[in-house]
Amino acid sequence: MPSDYAVDYDTRIPNNVGLAADAKVRRALERWHPGYLDWWLKMGPVGFQDALVYLRTAVSVDPEGWAKFGFVRMPDYKWGILLAPPVEGRTIPFGAHKGEPAWQEVPGEYRAALRRLIVIQGDTEPASVEQQRFLGATAPSLYDLRNLFQVNVEEGRHLWAMVYLLLHKYFGADGREEAEELLRRHAGDRDNPRLLGAFNEETPDWLSFFMFTYFTDRDGKMQLAALAQSGFDPLSRTCRFMLTEEAHHMFVGDSGIARIIERTCQAMREAGIDDPTDVPRVRRLGVIDLPLIQKKINLHFSLTLDLFGNEISTNAAASFEMGLKGRYREDKLTDDHRLEGATYPVLLWREGAIRREEAPALSALNARLRDDYIHDTEGGIRRWNRIIAHYGYDYALSLPHVGFNRRIGSFAGAPVGPAGEVLAPEEAARVRAAALPTPEDGAYLASLMKPVYEPGRFAPWIAPPKAGIDGKPGTFEYVKIAA
Ligand SMILES: [Fe+2]
Ligand SMILES: [Fe+2]
Repeated sequence: MPSDYAVDYDTRIPNNVGLAADAKVRRALERWHPGYLDWWLKMGPVGFQDALVYLRTAVSVDPEGWAKFGFVRMPDYKWGILLAPPVEGRTIPFGAHKGEPAWQEVPGEYRAALRRLIVIQGDTEPASVEQQRFLGATAPSLYDLRNLFQVNVEEGRHLWAMVYLLLHKYFGADGREEAEELLRRHAGDRDNPRLLGAFNEETPDWLSFFMFTYFTDRDGKMQLAALAQSGFDPLSRTCRFMLTEEAHHMFVGDSGIARIIERTCQAMREAGIDDPTDVPRVRRLGVIDLPLIQKKINLHFSLTLDLFGNEISTNAAASFEMGLKGRYREDKLTDDHRLEGATYPVLLWREGAIRREEAPALSALNARLRDDYIHDTEGGIRRWNRIIAHYGYDYALSLPHVGFNRRIGSFAGAPVGPAGEVLAPEEAARVRAAALPTPEDGAYLASLMKPVYEPGRFAPWIAPPKAGIDGKPGTFEYVKIAA
């Protein structure tokens, strides 16, 4: 029996938003669709468009059993518009309109600000697909190949989600233009790059991919969680459903890094290596040394912190006051949700020193979201360190200091080392270079990236997963590569 949560697959665009009855938005999406497919074929996964991939597709947005698994060619994936169920009587949870009924239509006076928030989020979704498009050629297993493609099709769907909002009738011609632009900008394009720095970086190898899904997809989680609080109800419902998909992306990163660490420690033990920092010896085993994993953490963490923007931001304050973008878990916080007169301690670079200053809480919302992100990120570090300790190695991975290797915000260009040490400028460059991956590190990783497409087999630098996807056995052929 179809409920509000059921997805209508009878129309060209699967949806649970009643597109069949909304001719205007439906037609706008149908006009956008061919350009999207064109983008997917040109800028999406290279070389596997005809492969049959064991993918999950959302069939409802019910927290229980929303996904169905089956073999699909990626260009035939059922990209659609899926919103979490409405909350009866939902009110705006924060800002100047706190307590008023949530908006079902775009509030006219906030149109431009809302459009900007949607465009910035929307731009990141196809960007990561573009960044990851060559990885299929070097997949360490069919299991990993399938996970890559699952992440890719879902990021594609997230683009659909944001475009649906832009094509919502109240954004008019500007919204249509923005939806087209989302397909025109490309990651790393000299003339027409993606909007945010980390989404123009390369993802050249699988360690980078796992780092990206762990650290950078998690920025996505934080942004979506803040937008899920929005007073504009369609945005809130869209983001709430996207978060359920995002959890898998971070699992891919978290477990991918864990499996690499596991394999490295195993190989070191088998070879009788007691010192995990003996990099040449470890590399002779053909596994990824722990110091290189630390360098990659330093890089991806610092690049991702830049995505949170300036610590002190009048834009962030305005979005909050307007009721458009809240805080992480706004609905679980117990203050007045208006923040007038409240303060928040912010770590800043001031006159050559690292200082913690009380700033107006409204202006400090980016810093606060970043702090929540850092807290959320620590879980993986703890899990990875447990694996290292389990093998008896006295080595611990850690997050670098917030001030290390920054290009945006108060710490941009500050001479801060990974441990938070303040350095002389010449020394800072040396310490920074030593704490980040070098071209030789990149070449070593590249030398390991040889594809393994035999069911049940894995590249020698990564351990098999603890469990298959959808309960499948270890030898399951997750991707049937076309001959
Ligand atoms: Fe996404
Ligand atoms: Fe994601």
